[in-house]
Amino acid sequence: MKNILVIGANSAIARAVSRLYAEEHCRLFLLSRDAEQLALQKQDLQIRGATEVDCSVFDANNFSVHEAVIDQVLDRFGSIDLAFICHGSLSNQAQCEEHFDSALQEFHTNALSVISLLTCLARHMSIQRSGCIAVITSVAGDRGRQSNYVYGSAKAMVSTYLQGLRGRLFKSQVDVIDIRPGFVDTPMTHAIKKGGPLWSSPEKVAQCIVDGIRKRKHTIYAPGYWRLIMLVVCSIPEVLFKRLKL
Ligand SMILES: NC(=O)c1ccc[n+]([C@@H]2O[C@H](COP(=O)([O-])OP(=O)(O)OC[C@H]3O[C@@H](n4cnc5c(N)ncnc54)[C@H](OP(=O)(O)O)[C@@H]3O)[C@@H](O)[C@H]2O)c1
Repeated sequence: MKNILVIGANSAIARAVSRLYAEEHCRLFLLSRDAEQLALQKQDLQIRGATEVDCSVFDANNFSVHEAVIDQVLDRFGSIDLAFICHGSLSNQAQCEEHFDSALQEFHTNALSVISLLTCLARHMSIQRSGCIAVITSVAGDRGRQSNYVYGSAKAMVSTYLQGLRGRLFKSQVDVIDIRPGFVDTPMTHAIKKGGPLWSSPEKVAQCIVDGIRKRKHTIYAPGYWRLIMLVVCSIPEVLFKRLKL
């Protein structure tokens, strides 16, 4: 039986992943800001086969509660087999360019809150000497683009942090996984025109994530073809790239 902690549990991708784990009869501990949605999701996951579902209201930007929340999960479950961090916000690039406060808020949500959680989780998991930490970053972190470099650089910070943490926790038999989705049709992307072959459903991305975690991959591009796309994007010379309206 797997004990799974889901942070940012109301995200569309997190919900789809939680459903797959419920079907495997896992125990789930859900953290999210929305109590009403948590209650609904708890019912849904129990119906789908979860052995146990616990929930707690949690704002990732309230860093001072992170340690206590992880302790609460450990008190309940005894150990964490998988900590899955999903929360995030799609930055308003134009606003962040004008107002540093907006950029700072985005860095808090997309990078610093994640690093604070990773600090607590790494401490516990290195003592536990088992388990997996999986974090959703983004393909946007692979290369800074003029249209979304605040969001992209926050995600890149987490990706680089995860690389180092992976090495540190290797000797403790704890796996650290960086999940980089491409375009996914979720509430986060409601303002973007959708459609076409590069867009995926949360369900498709969730299956890639669960499969990748099972295989203990270091980096999961979701879907996998994004690895090739980003290889091409990253190979464009800067002298040309800076002229592209991407
Ligand atoms: N959709 C894409 O195209 C795409 C692509 C690459 C990466 N991603 C990443 O995938 C992850 C999941 O996003 P999604 O696409 O599933 O979008 P989503 O459904 O909009 O989920 C984002 C979630 O983040 C939560 N959140 C934001 N700030 C939070 C905070 N301070 N504390 C706790 N929770 C907070 C939101 O909670 P509330 O429900 O309370 O608002 C929401 O449930 C994010 O990290 C995102 O950056 C998405």
